[in-house]
Amino acid sequence: MNTKLVIANWKMNPQTLREAKRIAGGIKTVASKNRKTQVIVCPSFLHLITLSSVGHKPISYGAQNVFCEKDGSHTGETSLSMLKDAGVSHIILGHSERRAKGETSEDVQKKISLVLKEKLIPILCIGEAERDMEGEYLSVIKNEIKDALKDVSQANVKKIVIAYEPVWAIGKTGEEAITGRDLHEMTLYIRKVLSDLYNQRTAFSVPVLYGGSVTGNNAKDIFSEGEVQGFLVGRASLDAKEFGKIISIVNKA
Ligand code: 13P
Repeated sequence: MNTKLVIANWKMNPQTLREAKRIAGGIKTVASKNRKTQVIVCPSFLHLITLSSVGHKPISYGAQNVFCEKDGSHTGETSLSMLKDAGVSHIILGHSERRAKGETSEDVQKKISLVLKEKLIPILCIGEAERDMEGEYLSVIKNEIKDALKDVSQANVKKIVIAYEPVWAIGKTGEEAITGRDLHEMTLYIRKVLSDLYNQRTAFSVPVLYGGSVTGNNAKDIFSEGEVQGFLVGRASLDAKEFGKIISIVNKA
């Protein structure tokens, strides 16, 4: 597990293709100077096709979702083959913002199998809504992992990226992000769950990322203490300079 990953989740931003191209160009410049870190940008579907045809190497492109059926009459949906054809390598699945809109564990499970079958890389998002004193949040994490990986073999789980994104830390200020220490506890727990499902060796071969109010200011502490392989970044990834700071911190560490 040598690769470090920094992934941009642009969500429903920016509002114009022109702006998307400008940000991607800026990210490409930083990514070119930080080659030990794989940089993946996940724009909206509409911008994805143009951006990935422009290229921006060494950036790779990812999608923020995919439909759970391979093909058929599904108005408004996008298939995996379309995304593959558009040059996508990674697909974010089970983001809390999608789960909040009704995406179920079964949907996530189906999508993971589909993505793995087509040899693309699923980025499985997990994360509790809140932290309680009783430690119930740990069962939330365990169940999300178990449900999503229900049909995933030991050989295939190594191809997945897990992004731990506690809902309470998403879209907040940099000070409200998780502490490195709390993140370390969580990454250990995630690996324990994976270890129980598969084995220890396998558990340590799955990259675990953190997402939730990562900025150029907090990335260093979170990364050095958290035992993660990188970040899934929302807001800060829309500013090439700020995102560039995060990329170089991860690359240097
Ligand atoms: P923010 O970095 O804006 O908190 O978003 C995190 C996230 O949801 C990435 O998927």
